[in-house]
This record gives sequence, structure tokens and C-alpha cells, in this order.
Amino acid sequence: MTAVRRATAEDGEACVEVLASLLDYFTPDTHDDLRHQFPTGEAWVAVDGSHIVGFALVEQRFPTTAEILFAAVRPGHRNHGIGTLLVDAALAELAAASVVLVEVKTLDASSSYKPYKATRAFWERRGFRQIDCIDPLPGWLPGDASAVYVAALEATR
Ligand SMILES: CC(C)(COP(=O)(O)OP(=O)(O)OC[C@H]1O[C@@H](n2cnc3c(N)ncnc32)[C@H](O)[C@@H]1OP(=O)(O)O)[C@@H](O)C(=O)NCCC(=O)NCCS
Repeated sequence: MTAVRRATAEDGEACVEVLASLLDYFTPDTHDDLRHQFPTGEAWVAVDGSHIVGFALVEQRFPTTAEILFAAVRPGHRNHGIGTLLVDAALAELAAASVVLVEVKTLDASSSYKPYKATRAFWERRGFRQIDCIDPLPGWLPGDASAVYVAALEATR
């Protein structure tokens, strides 16, 4: 049985381990990015027994908008609804805190790299819509175009 709860500062390294388990998705430099961003972001973890099997990290830079910087579920636990639980928990708390738009960036469909096809399908099924494609996004390799997705938590006009 997997439960989702707010992360604490002590959960950071377990979340890095989740990234490290997803070799097709996260390069080693992202581990330090997560270590750097985890303390200032808001995070939710999925816990199976006493093990963290997934997490989502959100950064809120403006009063009514936020970005999901990371979402990840261990390979053996993917496609069992855990990512949906994490995103639903994050979006519900963000909505309660008056956030109206949530962004997430992932690899664009123009890339020939196959693993992120399922990731784009995941965000689209969770209500995210692509609003831009940026190549290169600062910090990303040229040719690995970034798909920018947004979900509206309420109407803005
Ligand atoms: C993306 C991720 C966080 C989602 O978590 P999860 O626990 O696997 O997600 P869920 O089980 O809640 O849902 C998976 C959905 O993807 C669908 N899916 C899985 N593989 C798919 C594929 N190849 N093509 C289309 N859809 C696919 C499932 O059918 C399910 O869809 P539905 O429930 O809407 O019908 C997780 O899979 C993951 O860590 N992926 C690798 C890292 C990653 O891409 N992170 C996001 C970076 S932006």
C-alpha cells in the first residue's frame, strides 16, 4: 500500500536515489540539481512501507503560479498510479494555496529519444497542455527540445 505525504528535509537523499534508479531519464548532474533545489521547494513523497518510491518537487516563484521541477517513480513501481497520486496531492495543495497555473517541462516529441513518450502521455492525461517548445532551453543540450506544459487549476479570466 503506497501513501503520499509531504516531504521533510530528511527525505532529500532518498529522492536522489529515486532519480538514480531511473537511468534512462535522469543524468547524474540532475542529482545535484535536486540536492540544491529540494530544500527551497515543496515536495511530496510516495512511501511504500518505509521506502520512498516516488516524489514530486514543486517550486513556487510567483504568488499564483508554480512549476513541477521533478516527478519520478522507481522503475518497479511505475504505472501503478503512484505518479498520479503525487501530482494530485501537489495540485490539490497548490490550488488550496491560490495557485492557478502549474508548469512542467519535459522532452519534446521532436526528439527521437523514446522513453519520454510515456512521460508526455502522463502529463497530457493529467490535464497538462503543451504551450511551447524551446530548443535549447538553458542548461539543456541543443537538439533536446523542451516541451513546456501548463495545467490550469482555475480560470484566470
Ligand atoms: C512519469 C512518472 C512520474 C509517472 O508516474 P507513474 O506512477 O508511472 O504514473 P501512473 O501510474 O499514475 O500513470 C501512468 C500513465 O502513463 C501511461 N503510460 C505508461 N506508459 C505509456 C506509454 N508507453 N504510452 C502511453 N501511455 C503510457 C499509463 O497507462 C498511465 O496512464 P493513465 O492512468 O492515464 O491511463 C513515472 O512514470 C516516472 O518516473 N517516469 C520516468 C521519469 C519521468 O519521466 N519523470 C517526469 C519528468 S518530466
